[in-house]
Amino acid sequence: MDMFRVQGGARLQGRTEVGGAKNAALPIMAAALAAGGLTRLHRVPDLVDVRTLGTLLTSLGVDVRREDNGVLSLEVLDERSCVAEYDLVRRMRASICVLGPLLARRGWACVSLPGGCNIGDRPVDLHLKGLAALGAEIRVERGYIIAEARRLRGASIYLGGPFGSTVTGTCNVMAAATLAEGTTTIEAAACEPEVADLGEFLNRMGARITGLGTPFLKIEGVDALTGTEHTIIPDRIEAATLMIAAAITRGNILLENVRLNHLTAVLEKLREIGVSIALEGEAVRISAESSLCSSDCIALPYPGVPTDVQAQLMALLTITPGISIVTDKVFPDRFMHAAELVRMGARIRREGPSAIISGVPQLSGASVMASDLRASAALVLAALSASGESVVRRIYHLDRGYDRLEQKLNHLGAGIVRLADTPENMPSSLSVEIAELPAGTAGHELRGPSWLRQGQRISS
Ligand code: EPU
Repeated sequence: MDMFRVQGGARLQGRTEVGGAKNAALPIMAAALAAGGLTRLHRVPDLVDVRTLGTLLTSLGVDVRREDNGVLSLEVLDERSCVAEYDLVRRMRASICVLGPLLARRGWACVSLPGGCNIGDRPVDLHLKGLAALGAEIRVERGYIIAEARRLRGASIYLGGPFGSTVTGTCNVMAAATLAEGTTTIEAAACEPEVADLGEFLNRMGARITGLGTPFLKIEGVDALTGTEHTIIPDRIEAATLMIAAAITRGNILLENVRLNHLTAVLEKLREIGVSIALEGEAVRISAESSLCSSDCIALPYPGVPTDVQAQLMALLTITPGISIVTDKVFPDRFMHAAELVRMGARIRREGPSAIISGVPQLSGASVMASDLRASAALVLAALSASGESVVRRIYHLDRGYDRLEQKLNHLGAGIVRLADTPENMPSSLSVEIAELPAGTAGHELRGPSWLRQGQRISS
């Protein structure tokens, strides 16, 4: 297992480029199952999740290749297997995206239920409700979803749930409906740009979908889809993460390959905090050279502030003066990063779906543990701004969804080293010495690390 050693304190400066969106690439790769022939995808990021889905697609008869020019090619060679095994699905929830395309094209699908997750409850009831409305017979047996339908039928479907719509649920139902007999309407469809990108891709394959980017989709079923070529949209979450990296280090960077219209709510929030964002030709300049201020922030479905940026914004708000409240209405339990930020000196109190943050002047380097993809990013950002050295452990979460993040940050001046997570690679500045007890002291006393003995006190 790898970890990052991060030397805090550098102001990020320079220029870097955002890659293709993970959450668009994954359902689009899965949708290649709905067509015959060859599909070529440009700007697919090189991520563990993309490789995991590649392995799953291979097990479903697809020849998956990465070409030298960054293109991922997918050719369906054998359509006999319809089983997505638990061993692959448990590694990545987005594997559920094969359900709709498999069912629509091959007539049945057997896909493992994904199981637990660190960011809260993640049921798939809305996926199943939508596919059942299209006429699929669905049952759950031995941990697998088994869905069958000789040919799906168009239907009117409502996909709203207790926390808004569902992103991958909309992807599954939309992809399945493209091959159904007759017309399907989906109300309360997810409006995320990644869902719209999947829709554009399906239309290139011959589907007839209108209303993309809105909560109301109309899909006129067609008899067959064919492979095509498509460029994945830029990753708005990676862009937001790099913007916050600039802000938290009081840096000044230029980002390329960003679609600002996918980031309206994030830009509004960053500007409210005091970050300056300006177009410079095709690129975007982000600078945070003047003082920042607190802000309240609610993560909502698109076009709101994304839940996938909640943790990174929280990291920034830990060092902005004043009180900020961060609420997550998509995943109300997605706060495991808060306790790790507290280990770095942040002042955060959790109250239900919210975290109340009192800004501190600076975080201090510590050894912290990543719990999920975006939590990992938040901890790396916090470590960049902290005094001294930090260690971010379990960064395999980060590798699932960011393409060479540490290389991009180092190119901007950060000091991040990837090392094996072993005791000898831990910085000595983070080790705690058990001091000898003074003569006559009863019981056990932990005198603490050297920096505590240099006259500092821990504030309550
Ligand atoms: N929900 C239901 N029933 C369902 C499906 C979802 O109640 O059948 C609830 C969930 O429990 C949650 C809310 O609806 O409270 C939204 O979940 P959604 O289904 O939209 O999430 P997802 O499709 O599983 C995608 C992204 C996540 C991102 C969420 C929300 C992909 C591959 N994953 O997940 O991305 O957080 O939408 O925007 O697109 C990430 O990239 O780090 C990540 C977790």
